[in-house]
Amino acid sequence: MSSQKEYLEQNKERFVEELFELLRIPSISADSAYKNDVLKTADAVAESLRKAGAENVEICETPGYPIVYADKIVDPSLPTVLVYGHYDVQPPDPLDLWTTEPFEPVIRKTEIHPDGAIFARGACDDKGQMFMHVKALEVMNQTGTLACNVKFMIEGEEEVGSENLGWFVSRNQEKLAADVILISDTGMIANDSPSITTGLRGLSYVEVKVTGPNRDLHSGLYGGAVANPINVLTNMIASLQDDNKHITIPGFYEDVQELSDAEREAMAKAPFNLDNYKKALDLSDVDGELGYSTMERASIRPTLDVNGIWGGYQGEGAKTVIPSWAKAKISMRLVPHQEPGKITELFQKHFEAIAPKSVKVEVTPHHGGLPYVSPTDDPGYRAASKAMEDSFGKTPVPVRSGGSIPIVALFEKELGLKSILMGFGLDSDAIHSPNEHYGLFNYYKGIETIPHFFKHFAALKSE
Ligand code: BES
Ligand code: MN
Ligand code: MN
Repeated sequence: MSSQKEYLEQNKERFVEELFELLRIPSISADSAYKNDVLKTADAVAESLRKAGAENVEICETPGYPIVYADKIVDPSLPTVLVYGHYDVQPPDPLDLWTTEPFEPVIRKTEIHPDGAIFARGACDDKGQMFMHVKALEVMNQTGTLACNVKFMIEGEEEVGSENLGWFVSRNQEKLAADVILISDTGMIANDSPSITTGLRGLSYVEVKVTGPNRDLHSGLYGGAVANPINVLTNMIASLQDDNKHITIPGFYEDVQELSDAEREAMAKAPFNLDNYKKALDLSDVDGELGYSTMERASIRPTLDVNGIWGGYQGEGAKTVIPSWAKAKISMRLVPHQEPGKITELFQKHFEAIAPKSVKVEVTPHHGGLPYVSPTDDPGYRAASKAMEDSFGKTPVPVRSGGSIPIVALFEKELGLKSILMGFGLDSDAIHSPNEHYGLFNYYKGIETIPHFFKHFAALKSE
């Protein structure tokens, strides 16, 4: 057994215990009530990096939540790997759907994780995956096998759009100079089917409000004679897609990059079972844009989805009322070369244009982000591929993901660096959902694979 694997074996229980400590702090960036906990988590991450052997550990203040920076420069002539991750988490709601408390991590076995999985908010996204890199540093440091210089940049605002990371990156280009960015904040196909994420979708997110009468009205006295904002809003939203689930906003598809037949054929080779997919979600059928497979719909095609809709009476019993207003939150996932600013503008124009005279509409843009694609033939990808081959005994397949990490495109622009998305989560890990979890197998596999990446990257860069 290699010294690295031996060290991991001997310390694996402690590695889980230390992750538990991080998971116990509710670092919910979206909710200001948790501000102190988010800040406490930054301190805890910094401390863990110090203990793992990092030098120059800093809590870098920003106009928002701080960024934890750390590095270990073993030899300036060696290549440098910049690790990115996030210590903030999504709100745990709805709380009543959690089997155990979201911030009291426990290990339970599941069908997919027979060796056990850690159940907690952030277990997979991204505390568990980010912390694998901290522990991998400890492994490499303690066994004297650190093959590259390493820098860490761990932020606390990813789940709310990374607003201040761009600010930080543009002011610290020299500090962040590296040869590649390594990120574990995505997933892979299955525990016996490793994959590397080669693309992310972009995002355009808006909130809309439809206002009718200046107050809630008696639905008997006024019903039928004035526009009902909820009826209007739902009709407007329904019209945003046609019967083929094609988005009807003029110009929406203008910049969409169509994949070649060869690329689509290559994509279709990745293992995917539609029956299992439906079964896992208790669905009798899937749904989506005509002419594309489920995998394609969820990765290389843009989407429009309502994330929340509210208005009117929602309490117990029946209240007869025509509400004064209705609101919805709408996200559009974007693909190369769509531009979030342009898409938001197209949405706004169209939404205003289709509004009947009987109501007023307001469109408020939220955060957005650019899509990303990574090469599969550069040293970064090849190192990740060889590293997973070492630890899984199988060559990983490239897969484009439907999720978004908006900051990845910005890294490319500001630092001129590609990001390698070597994630170890599974789609079934319920990130952002109740009962989020992360397999122990995946946690340990990640800690085992990362040092292999460093080794192969150093070798490939010196070729
Ligand atoms: N880690 C996820 C993104 C992800 C997960 C990508 C799995 C691919 C596979 C990240 O934390 C996230 O949730 N991103 C948000 C966007 C952000 C602006 C809130 C998303 O994709 O909704
Ligand atoms: Mn994440
Ligand atoms: Mn997330």
